[in-house]
Order: sequence, then structure tokens, then C-alpha cells
Amino acid sequence: MKIAPSILSADFSKLGEEVTSIVEMGADYIHIDMMDGQFVPNISFGPMVMKAIRPLTDATFDAHLMIDHPERYIDAVVDAGADIITVHVEATEHIHRVIQQIKAAGKKAGVVVNPGTPIEAVLPVIDLVDLVLVMTVNPGFGGQSFIESQLEKVTKLAQWRKEKYLNYEIEIDGGVNAQTAQLCREAGADVLVAGSYIFGAADRKTAIDSLRPSYEI
Ligand code: DX5
Ligand code: ZN
Repeated sequence: MKIAPSILSADFSKLGEEVTSIVEMGADYIHIDMMDGQFVPNISFGPMVMKAIRPLTDATFDAHLMIDHPERYIDAVVDAGADIITVHVEATEHIHRVIQQIKAAGKKAGVVVNPGTPIEAVLPVIDLVDLVLVMTVNPGFGGQSFIESQLEKVTKLAQWRKEKYLNYEIEIDGGVNAQTAQLCREAGADVLVAGSYIFGAADRKTAIDSLRPSYEI
């Protein structure tokens, strides 16, 4: 199980320190939520902020683009140092082309669906991607409640991966805490994103550990 703290819930006034310390506490990926105020009703930050923190760590940068027509920003996100770039099927008419664009740049490509989108929407690109992300909240904000009905998508993704001999990672984003993490693990997730649960904890290291399989609640 990989843990991907979302820096959306970090203290932006000292973002560098937040990133360095969360990596020391065992973060596997740094989840970087870019929001454009168009695809989602909130604005976070763009590639320039990611570029500023890139020299601080070798940890995998997992960029989640909540951006309308993400094809416009792939070059900038690659240049800023992303390792995995994940794009929404709902954000472009050309999801296949965007995935090709990411792969051509030598980066790992991910595809993501909103809670209101059937998981079958990823099938046309499933053999091209390195990661499939299932949203368990409607994207735009940290600190929302986990939508349990989305776990069915995770079960299907795990089943398809086996049937089709593929090896994409299955990631879950939104409302993850020690309780919901257990449900995610049972459904077959490989990577858990968590923002408010980790950054809001008094003991962030224990919060990270509590999302892993061996942890007893
Ligand atoms: C939601 C973002 C998430 C968010 C998760 O739009 O994509 O990555 O940071 O936050 P929590 O873990 O607080 O639900
Ligand atoms: Zn995210």
C-alpha cells in the first residue's frame, strides 16, 4: 500500500518544510492537486508551485490535474517535474490523445473519474495508463466525506486488471482516513491519497501509518 499525502491540506506559508517533513514520515508519493476554477469550483496552484518544491525531494510527484482541457498544460507540468500525470476523462474530448502526450514525454500517465462518471469511461485507455484514480469525493476541496458507493469501481478495476493481464495502479482520492482506508484496501486499492486526515493530524506519522494494512484500529 502506497500513501500519497495531498499537499492541498498543507500549510502553504511553509510548503517546502511541509513537503520535506511528510517525505521523512514515510510518504510514498506527493499528491499535487492542480485546480483551475473551471473544471472544479476552486483554484489551488499550478506548475510553478510544483517546480519550486521539486528540488527538495526525490519522492514521486503525483500530479492530479483538475483542469479543463489539460492538454494545454501537459508540457508545463512535465517541465515542472511531475512523475505521474493524471487527467480527468470528463475534462477533454481527447483523453486518448492526452494520455499519448504524457507517455510521449516519458512520464507515467493516469486517468481519473468523478463520482458521477461510470468507470467504464476509462476502458478505451486502460491498456495505456500506469494508474487509474477513483474519486471518492467530488473534486475541488479537501475535507469532504468519503462516498462509499465508489468502491464498486475499485473492485471492477482490480478484476479488469487481472482479466486483461494489465498492471496499472489503483488509486483512491477523497475522504480517506483510518476507517475508510480499510474499505479501500479490501476493495483492492494500491495507493491512497489523503489530505486533511494527514495534514490535520497532531501526529502525522501515526496518521500515515494508520492507513497501511498492518495497522490495527
Ligand atoms: C479533492 C482533491 C484531493 C483532496 C483530498 O479535490 O483531489 O486530493 O486533497 O482531500 P481529503 O483527503 O481531505 O479528502
Ligand atoms: Zn487529488
